[in-house]
Parts: sequence; structure tokens; C-alpha cells
Amino acid sequence: MSKIGIFFGTDTGSTRLVAKKIFSLLGEELADKPKNINRVKPEELLQYDALILGTPSYGIGDLPGLGAGCQERSWQEFVPTLDGADLSDKRIALFGLGHQERYASRFASSLIQLYRVFYGYGAEMIGRWSTEGYTFEHSDSVIDDQFVGLVLDQRGQPHLTDERIRVWLAQVTPQLLPVLAEAA
Ligand SMILES: Cc1cc2nc3c(=O)[nH]c(=O)nc-3n(C[C@H](O)[C@H](O)[C@H](O)COP(=O)(O)O)c2cc1C
Repeated sequence: MSKIGIFFGTDTGSTRLVAKKIFSLLGEELADKPKNINRVKPEELLQYDALILGTPSYGIGDLPGLGAGCQERSWQEFVPTLDGADLSDKRIALFGLGHQERYASRFASSLIQLYRVFYGYGAEMIGRWSTEGYTFEHSDSVIDDQFVGLVLDQRGQPHLTDERIRVWLAQVTPQLLPVLAEAA
């Protein structure tokens, strides 16, 4: 597929909003409309070689889904459907939402679960993001002093979201484009 696929999980809509912002900045020529992962079959995601995937944080660093107390199915239910897929030809950038003040001891910790799943299936993971500008005690989603993807706090720092997305996309888009060119 010669476009970027954008998929998100959500319980209360914030991650959908961010996915839409990402889509509108990339534009229809580069990306397909974001899809809620609760309505996606594995082959729909696997048709893309360049992906942007998003998740909120719920539970104790769980992926969102019924088992984490969410209202709807989400990543938790989707992940097992991948069932041993080979993702070694995929390049994937992640974004995650959390609330740093309320959940300071596990800020945006679900993001690492998504990272582990797709990294574990062989995908090349890109889009690390600085922890500067955030105040929290601990996040499982930090490796080598950086978040494993873009982290956004729509509860505590909504005013910073648009600029963070803009800067992050300027970083990851040039890394996703060569994958699209290869697929074309
Ligand atoms: C029950 C519950 C548990 C949460 N757990 C965490 C958490 O562990 N870490 C965190 O950073 N944010 C946590 N949050 C905050 C959400 O991740 C945040 O509000 C996010 O923007 C929600 O995204 P959504 O609207 O797409 O579902 C939690 C929120 C709720 C309601």
C-alpha cells in the first residue's frame, strides 16, 4: 500500500481526535483515514508497510480494551488476531496518550505494550520522543531516556498537542516516505 495507515485505540475519544489531527496534517495523498482498531481485521492493517499507531493508557500499563475496563474492544482484543504475523517489512511510528499529573507513577505506560507487540513481530520502530516538557515520576514507555513514541497529554497539556504533533511528524514523515516509495 503506497499510503500511511493510521490506526488507534480509544475509550473516550481523545486518541481518535489526535489520529484525525495527524491525518489532516499528512493529507489524503500521504495517508488513509484513521481507523479505530476495534473495527479492523488484521489484513486491513497488514496491507500497509508504513504505519502510525496510537493508544491511550489504561489499567496498570495495559493495552486498552475490555480487560482494562474500557467500554469497547480495542488493542487488547486486536493484538491476538495478528497471530505470528511477519512484520519485518513494516516501519511503524507510535503515539500514546496519558495524564501525567493523575497517573504520574505510570504515565503513558500502555505505549510500551504496543511497542513490544510490533517490535516483537519484527517491525522497525521509529519516532522516539524526548521526555523534556513533561512532569512525571515513572513511565514504562521510556527507553534510553526517550519515550518510544510521541506522548501527548490531552488532560494536562492540551495546548501543547498541536505543536508536538507538528514537530514529531516533521521527524517521522521523511522516514516513512521511502517505505511508501518502495511499495509503489
Ligand atoms: C480509568 C482510567 C485509567 C487511566 N490510566 C492511566 C494510566 O495508567 N496512565 C496514564 O498516563 N493515563 C491514564 N489514564 C488517562 C488516559 O490515558 C487519558 O485520559 C487519555 O487521554 C484517554 O484517551 P482516550 O480518550 O482515547 O480513551 C487513565 C484514565 C482512566 C479514566
